[in-house]
Amino acid sequence: MRQLHQLAKAAGKLYFGSATDNGELSDATYVSILKDADMFGQITPGNGQKWQYTEPTRGSFSFTAGDQIASFAQSNGQLLRCHALVWHSQLPNWVSSGTWTAAELTSVINTHIANEVGHYKGQCYAWDVVNEALNEDGSYRDSVFYRVLGDSYIPIAFKAAAAADQDTKLYYNDYNIEGSGSKQQGTIKIVKLVQDAGGKIDGVGMQAHLIVGSTPSQSTLESVIRSYISAGVTEVAYTELDIRFSSLPPSESGLQQQASDYGAVTRACLAVDACVGITIWDYTDKYSWIPSVFPGSGAALLWDENFSRKPAYSTVSSILRAAATGGGGSTGIPTATSTAPEPTSTSCTVVKWGQCGGRGYTGCTACASGSTCTYSNDYYSQCL
Ligand code: G3I
Repeated sequence: MRQLHQLAKAAGKLYFGSATDNGELSDATYVSILKDADMFGQITPGNGQKWQYTEPTRGSFSFTAGDQIASFAQSNGQLLRCHALVWHSQLPNWVSSGTWTAAELTSVINTHIANEVGHYKGQCYAWDVVNEALNEDGSYRDSVFYRVLGDSYIPIAFKAAAAADQDTKLYYNDYNIEGSGSKQQGTIKIVKLVQDAGGKIDGVGMQAHLIVGSTPSQSTLESVIRSYISAGVTEVAYTELDIRFSSLPPSESGLQQQASDYGAVTRACLAVDACVGITIWDYTDKYSWIPSVFPGSGAALLWDENFSRKPAYSTVSSILRAAATGGGGSTGIPTATSTAPEPTSTSCTVVKWGQCGGRGYTGCTACASGSTCTYSNDYYSQCL
């Protein structure tokens, strides 16, 4: 029985992954599942790379927590998504409460990014460069960065990240941007803002902290993904997926609804080649962030708190398997995804935007006509 990442790869995606956190790595049962690269081919540090941990006092850098997760991923052959450089939250007081001129704060951002991205150079498949810059109405969030620099802090951050590592993918990452509306439009505005300023932005990360029964439909999810690609990024990803119950415990029908909601997200990603992967925001309810922030809510992940797989796991797995074997069948997966390569096959063609090489990659290397296999970084070559 193949596992989630194996199936996602066989379906043409780059990864299926999970976030994790340092404290959890002493839980042997937890680790035995997390370290299985066939299940999770990608890892994101849930906290350890945030500003509060990496530069707690000005000019004094500590990468201990992030490094622990990075070396976990590396030793298990898993891709690392890196998270997050410029964010209003988990920001040390010396930044958030400082009195800054525009030049000073620009220097603070540049120094932080140069050091952190420089430290992780060559290790990160992607970086969440700017995180959660938007209000729900699509306007810019009031943060120290916005107050001092206006929207210019966003291209400043992207340019600093590009200067520190030319090979990592640079993402804007936010929640409630998976569906259509003002925040989606705000995200498109950010993509254009960075590009108009001459900066590089490769991807939009849709966090996807969703609610059972209120998850957008597959067709809405798909059209929103396409809107970001049309705006000018080359890829998108679901970066922090979880789908929570607003009240607990979940009923049997609730678990079926949750499975259906996870299915919509999985199908949407499969339907658009430029959606490179799905990361769940930890994999077990035992370590979900949700109950501490939304008391009474939770049960949002694919494994319950006793490490049993939920109906949603079976749904995600069977949708990926159908795409991997080229059988859309009753899953309703569009035919386009069924042309994706099986990783062990040699006589196959990779669709445009698909992966065609990289460290650990064992799939097809021939690109569909009209596209060429292009080196992106050590982990990833793509048909462009
Ligand atoms: O490290 C301290 C520890 O020393 C202390 O004893 C303990 C007591 O509460 O707190 C620990 O820090 C906690 C930290 O997670 C590490 O466990 C913080 O209180 C807690 O607030 C923090 O929560 C994190 C949250 O971001 C903060 O906003 C969650 O773990 C993390 O999963 C969550 O992740 C965010 C993404 O970065 C961005 N998108 C939303 C997502 C969910 O909120």
